[in-house]
Amino acid sequence: MDLSAANHRIPLSDGNSIPIIGLGTYSDPKLTMKGACAASVKAAIDVGYRHIDGAYLYQNEHEVGEAIRQKIAEGKVRREDIFYCGKLWATKQEPEMVRPTLEKTLQVLQLDYVDLYIIETPMALKPGDEPYPKDENGKWLYHKSNLCATWEALEACKDAGLVKSLGVSNFNRRQLELILNKPGLKYKPVSNQVECHPYFTQPKLLKFCQEHDITIIAYSPLGTSRNPSWVNLSSPPLLKDAYLNSLRKKYTKTAAQIALRFNIQRGVAVIPKSFNPERIKENFQVFDFSLTEEEMKNIEGLNRNVRFVEMLMWSDHPEYPFHDEY
Ligand SMILES: NC(=O)c1ccc[n+]([C@@H]2O[C@H](COP(=O)([O-])OP(=O)(O)OC[C@H]3O[C@@H](n4cnc5c(N)ncnc54)[C@H](OP(=O)(O)O)[C@@H]3O)[C@@H](O)[C@H]2O)c1
Repeated sequence: MDLSAANHRIPLSDGNSIPIIGLGTYSDPKLTMKGACAASVKAAIDVGYRHIDGAYLYQNEHEVGEAIRQKIAEGKVRREDIFYCGKLWATKQEPEMVRPTLEKTLQVLQLDYVDLYIIETPMALKPGDEPYPKDENGKWLYHKSNLCATWEALEACKDAGLVKSLGVSNFNRRQLELILNKPGLKYKPVSNQVECHPYFTQPKLLKFCQEHDITIIAYSPLGTSRNPSWVNLSSPPLLKDAYLNSLRKKYTKTAAQIALRFNIQRGVAVIPKSFNPERIKENFQVFDFSLTEEEMKNIEGLNRNVRFVEMLMWSDHPEYPFHDEY
């Protein structure tokens, strides 16, 4: 893949394309100052990011919209230059909820369409406005969804012009095949957003997705924020890895830049989150060097097959995706 090509984009199977680096925007609302997300999205657009990854669930989608609209008003970018990915949460998978939920996101963003809308997780929770529904004993309230019916409702949203491309997130091979083999499928998922970085390289899922023209979008590409409330900390910090750091001198690049370059060089889009202007810039400066084949192999060899984002609290959900090998 020629990464020096215009804007560093990956073509999607539906004819659209996705900028290979996006800004992640999930930040624990309890630990994040108001306005930090908007400031970061503006800083990112200023240094060249054109892809923003967000979700209604993150509680800062209004700030993402504000930042994008401000940059358009300033004449820095046009709407069509920006690629925004939004997400359909687990409590909104009932087909009749899909369009109103996407419309809510558009209303919050104050935009007319999103570029990509993805099913955030295959695990449905009790439909409603409570994002994390539990019963009076603290037990999770699961829901039996029909992912194919959810998908058809998403297809209707694309036909209505509310979204350009459709994808999924945290789907395993079986769940992808469920959609791919759906009778009467109108639009294939263009992407699957999953955890992916040098300690969790996803070789089998990546191969399967490449064979089916599904782009992998790597979440937690720097190894997460290591927030113990949702991150499995049994794996050591990725950015302290000795091998990644051993390449610092040769390239004058940080371990974070090496980790991002590893994924983009094999055609995987990355969505590093940073709300720090220096690191936002740093994470975008990965187009002026390339790793050798041997270095790519060595980084592939760092794979530990241990997820940082295990979502074990839902491990007895019938659609828990991570019991399968991939
Ligand atoms: N679909 C899903 O289920 C799902 C799950 C998880 C995440 N996501 C998406 O993926 C995005 C990224 O994943 P993530 O937020 O889990 O983790 P990440 O991008 O791997 O790491 C973010 C952490 O790394 C720090 N950081 C950023 N750049 C750095 C650098 N150059 N050097 C050192 N530290 C750096 C950030 O702190 P500072 O902000 O202080 O720089 C933050 O603590 C999320 O924001 C979200 O948009 C999706």
